[in-house]
Amino acid sequence: MSLGQVLDDLSKYVELQMDEGTSSAKVSEDVMGGLKGAVEGQGSQEPVTEAAPKTSDSPGSGADLERIALEISECKLCQLHSSRTKTVPGQGSPSPEIMFVGEGPGADEDKAGLAFVGRAGQLLTRMIEAMGYTREEVFIGNIVKCRPPENRAPEPAEMIACMPYLKRQIAALQPRVIVALGATAVKGLVEMPKGMGITKLRGTWMSFEGIDLMPTFHPAYLLRNANMKKYVWEDLKTVLHHLGRPIPEVKKRG
Ligand code: URA
Ligand code: SF4
Repeated sequence: MSLGQVLDDLSKYVELQMDEGTSSAKVSEDVMGGLKGAVEGQGSQEPVTEAAPKTSDSPGSGADLERIALEISECKLCQLHSSRTKTVPGQGSPSPEIMFVGEGPGADEDKAGLAFVGRAGQLLTRMIEAMGYTREEVFIGNIVKCRPPENRAPEPAEMIACMPYLKRQIAALQPRVIVALGATAVKGLVEMPKGMGITKLRGTWMSFEGIDLMPTFHPAYLLRNANMKKYVWEDLKTVLHHLGRPIPEVKKRG
């Protein structure tokens, strides 16, 4: 039996329990649908494609985003909930041209409840500003919304459980471009071609549900490998060109 079938059965079971008035079946239909969609998407060549938001306010109003953030704040869908201080839904413009997606909160983000506010975040801010934007003009989010302990990478089950939130955020934001920061972000959003790591994939356009996606290195990796910054700048210039934006001169920085 496939994992998808197992979840299908589980979903039916929960529905049945609810019909019978069992009050402890608390997983919402939305979440079940998203989870099932995410797991089914894992086995195929296609990236995960289901789970659009049920309700939607006028695009770009931010009301959908607030609702998603509220659900995230109460989420216990994966084990990461038990060690978090604050959830980190992501923040920024409700109608950005560009959405940046990282891996997951670190210690600083877990304390603040905000994405990319530590050292890697400061470098990301410089990257965004070098492109001619402010942090407030873009949206900055992550694959998982709770901090993995000891800064380990999120596990596949955690990424799958959290994916419906990111998908709903993307549906609400409708960015023109998603910049996927590092291998975990790319893996979470698109099917990585076999044998291709981020080093090979970076700089080439991919697609997430019809939205152009640019894979590049994670800023934390750049903090350890400053000589790779030039490649990220190349990728970000490709994004600017694609958006018809002017390419600012780079000032040399450390
Ligand atoms: N690294 C990430 O991937 N995300 C953050 O929010 C901070 C650091
Ligand atoms: Fe829920 Fe995502 Fe946090 Fe897991 S990481 S508890 S799925 S919000």
